[in-house]
Amino acid sequence: MQECLKIKNKMKYRFYVNLLFLLLIILSINSCYYDIEEELYPTQKSDCDTIATTLSKKISPILSKNCYSCHSAANATSMGNGINLETYTELKKYIDNSKLIMSIKHSTGVSAMPKGTTNKIPSCDIVLIEYWINKGAKND
Ligand code: HEC
Repeated sequence: MQECLKIKNKMKYRFYVNLLFLLLIILSINSCYYDIEEELYPTQKSDCDTIATTLSKKISPILSKNCYSCHSAANATSMGNGINLETYTELKKYIDNSKLIMSIKHSTGVSAMPKGTTNKIPSCDIVLIEYWINKGAKND
């Protein structure tokens, strides 16, 4: 009887150890699945959302981050060849002559911008600027 109980307990122990292993396997399979970047960040492209693309909300912040170090009212003379993209009139001039979009796309015929680096601004930012231009480049 005593022996029987011992075996029973041993089996019980084995059962729980196996259960634990099984759980670990399931967990590791699951964690592999969730390591897939697209699964983790399914809305990564939503930054490129063109909803509410206005000059003040989306475009000016992009220009501020990437261009105002040279093309602001304060820096244009010393750094930006006199081009001040902070004012709508001046900005619109470079939209209308297509030089702004050409410069950020590194098209031939205009200086590639931002100057001083071979990198373009993030492709999403280019998409937003193009969208805003195609909508009429309004002072909104
Ligand atoms: C480090 C300074 C600097 C930064 C940053 C910079 N620019 Fe410029 N930009 C210049 C200079 C200097 C010129 C004059 C042309 C030249 O020297 O290549 C210029 C010229 C331009 C021109 C006229 C190009 C032409 O061929 O007539 C445009 C349009 C322009 N920049 C847009 C931008 C935009 C948009 C950004 C941000 C994405 C930007 N720049 C960032 C310095 C800068």
